[in-house]
Amino acid sequence: IGDGDPNILNLPEHSTTLGQAVATNGYGVPSKYETNLLRRESPGLTRVSAASVSFAPLQGLFGIITPSGLHFERHHQGWHDIDPSKHRFMINGLVKNPKVYTMDDLMRLPSVSRMHFIECGANTAMEWGNVAVPTVQYSHGMLSCCEFTGVPLSVLLEDCGYDKKNGKFILAEGADGSSMTRTISMDRALDDVIVAWGMNGEMLRPENGYPLRLVVPGVQGVSWVKWLRRIEVGDKEYGTKDEAIHYIDSMPDGMYRQYTSIQECKSVITTPSAGQMLLDKGFYNITGLAWSGRGKIKRVDVSVDGGRNWRTARLEGPVNTKCLTRFNINWVWDGSPVVLQSRAIDDTGYVQPKINELRAVRGTRSIYHNNAIQSWKVSESGEVSNVQVY
Ligand code: MTE
Repeated sequence: IGDGDPNILNLPEHSTTLGQAVATNGYGVPSKYETNLLRRESPGLTRVSAASVSFAPLQGLFGIITPSGLHFERHHQGWHDIDPSKHRFMINGLVKNPKVYTMDDLMRLPSVSRMHFIECGANTAMEWGNVAVPTVQYSHGMLSCCEFTGVPLSVLLEDCGYDKKNGKFILAEGADGSSMTRTISMDRALDDVIVAWGMNGEMLRPENGYPLRLVVPGVQGVSWVKWLRRIEVGDKEYGTKDEAIHYIDSMPDGMYRQYTSIQECKSVITTPSAGQMLLDKGFYNITGLAWSGRGKIKRVDVSVDGGRNWRTARLEGPVNTKCLTRFNINWVWDGSPVVLQSRAIDDTGYVQPKINELRAVRGTRSIYHNNAIQSWKVSESGEVSNVQVY
């Protein structure tokens, strides 16, 4: 039996002394034992960090909501903390009554709160040619999911009397120095797009567009314009620099696809994942995330033999539309080398492709929209690493 566990036998100080006072931290912060869970930059990815990306630590998150302080960031020209009392939002173009709104004007309108994922179109971009990054944070961390609050864009477009005959598109513009503008079809703008100020029950964080951002459910992150200052209604696609030079899909024949903005169905196992270590054989809960820009996740299958056999995972409810869905499945590791994979299917019937199926259509030099099945190899030592299986 031994001497017994000192952590049980000896009363710790926290059981015998007075704890800290309420509101010691006016705004709560994580435990000092949790300081390793951070968004991280991939050094050398871009020339300056103000025009770069930080990845969310998916391996350490539970459920489907990304804590606001760990939401990934992607800035073309750095972030700002904008004074909301000076921020203005304008709607112009093909509208009867062009208008300028203050934040107070917007926040008294009827609002909605909805949970949605946001994924950068460049998520998993580095893996087109071969295995490139060491952890799920870097391979899939340009992904987050929050509850967003704001006014439906349809309410504002009606308020300005948009031209119902000729107003076929909108152009969204941010207030940062990146001149980043995106065209969105009027159908989508009137459907589920939100002009949002809230994220996870509080105001947006400055890094994520405070005080106002566009939420475009199911669509790649670039269209979720931050520090939103203007929407123009127009009769055709605008073909701006971020639609003509960037965020286009290169095809094997040298041509490019434009305006492929939907984030197709995708999933990834977050634990066990590359960079982690299985300590012993025995029981493990394999867990991960699945999502689709076209609707809800219908099913997630998991393979522990590199895609030869598949078992259906448990989906944790609620399963929301255009939102992350958490899946879990029991697994007993026998200590031999294995390859773990997950494959998501959405409610349109679309099945997440294998990397070679995707390459057959898109080639190996693409950047955006890599939604391939991810493989993690568990070696005999328990070490988990990133591999590609065809
Ligand atoms: N909006 C503005 N104004 N400026 C930007 O640089 N980056 C876009 C989009 N909106 C960007 C922007 C890109 S490419 C992405 S992927 C998302 O914001 C990232 O949002 P996040 O930083 O909140 O994760």
